[in-house]
Amino acid sequence: MKFTAPDWQKEIYLSGFAGILPRVNIDLANLEASAKRHMSRNAYAYIAGGAGCEDTIKSNRNAFTKYSIVPRMLCNVGERDTSVELFGEKLPSPFLLSPVGVLEMVHRDADIAVARAAAQLGIPYIFSNQASCPMEACAAVMRNSPRWFQLYWSKSNELVASFVQRAERCGCKAIVVTVDTTLLGWRTRDLELAYLPFLEGKGIAQYTSDPVFQKMLDEPDEGADVKRKITLRSIAGLVKMVNNYPGNNFLRKLRSGRPIKAVRKFTATYSNPCTTWNDLTFLRQQTKLPILLKGILHADDARKALDYGMDGIIISNHGGRQVDGAVATLDALPKIYDITRGTIPVLLDSGIRGGADAFKALALGAKAVCIGRPYVYGLALAGEQGVYTVLRNFMADFELTMALSGCKNIQEITADRLQRT
Ligand code: GLV
Repeated sequence: MKFTAPDWQKEIYLSGFAGILPRVNIDLANLEASAKRHMSRNAYAYIAGGAGCEDTIKSNRNAFTKYSIVPRMLCNVGERDTSVELFGEKLPSPFLLSPVGVLEMVHRDADIAVARAAAQLGIPYIFSNQASCPMEACAAVMRNSPRWFQLYWSKSNELVASFVQRAERCGCKAIVVTVDTTLLGWRTRDLELAYLPFLEGKGIAQYTSDPVFQKMLDEPDEGADVKRKITLRSIAGLVKMVNNYPGNNFLRKLRSGRPIKAVRKFTATYSNPCTTWNDLTFLRQQTKLPILLKGILHADDARKALDYGMDGIIISNHGGRQVDGAVATLDALPKIYDITRGTIPVLLDSGIRGGADAFKALALGAKAVCIGRPYVYGLALAGEQGVYTVLRNFMADFELTMALSGCKNIQEITADRLQRT
């Protein structure tokens, strides 16, 4: 093992001996509080917020407390192996990075910083459809390190195909279709601030860098005659919109009208509530890469995913951002695993906050888990180094939980290691 937990612990304690405390908090509640101080009000609301009363955010966490680990002793865990295999690729740990959009709100290096940190550790980064940097730029800093691409099903199949082709070309090893966001959930905090970053041209870099999307901007602009209130804030928003559009010449960009058109086109097409299972056939024709569905919560949908030849499932409720009151992901896992029974990998997303959570998910049948908000808080605090630190903390915490529970490797993490609380 390259990045062992004892090495990481030693580094932290020896730094402490020299009077240097961790810059990125170890405790995740403290991490969020510190990150909040580094983020604008709008950015924090967008990242931390969920749908409605945010009950599902809480349920995601509560679900983990319904299970206790029952550690076994004297198992010789001197040699530990936390690696997992996914789609023929050996990964150093059971962690992946969930796609999170609009990271430019959090840190100027945004997705690039995350890509660099993930690559240092060999942890797969699922590029966001709503990224602040084009996928090609992230891939360029990752060398051979694993990356996947998250896809929102837009109203244009041609654009869907183009995103998928670009993902293939830049070395993504799987396509993750997010199926739970055919419409944006009722995001209380964002609505209260009346703030949506996309309207400032943020988080649409995959679109503005896309040849099909650029062609769509040549079409007549349907929303152009909608009258808007002109205020100081809307002028500031327009300036941001133009600045966020690719290219350096502000005036030329402004005169072209394309930055405004891009935002309009994006809001009109980014997702398609009419999407059905049959659309997956189109996607299958576009790529030979494994396709995973992210956002599956119901056992019957897991069965359908199998029927439609999907290669994997990510159990997710979008971090509680879509349907408030939706079932917690860990509560959904046993029923879904019962359907798939290891025929395709099932990953778990939403609510993972430490090594013990990953252990419990794996014991219940998950092949790997996805981390979301915690790495974004690391990014807010310390850019690439912040993301790296958060990931190392997760890896070390998991390795120690696994070993101290009596497991030398992932295969030994089985359901009999858990007890209902
Ligand atoms: C988009 O994916 C979001 O959750 O805001």
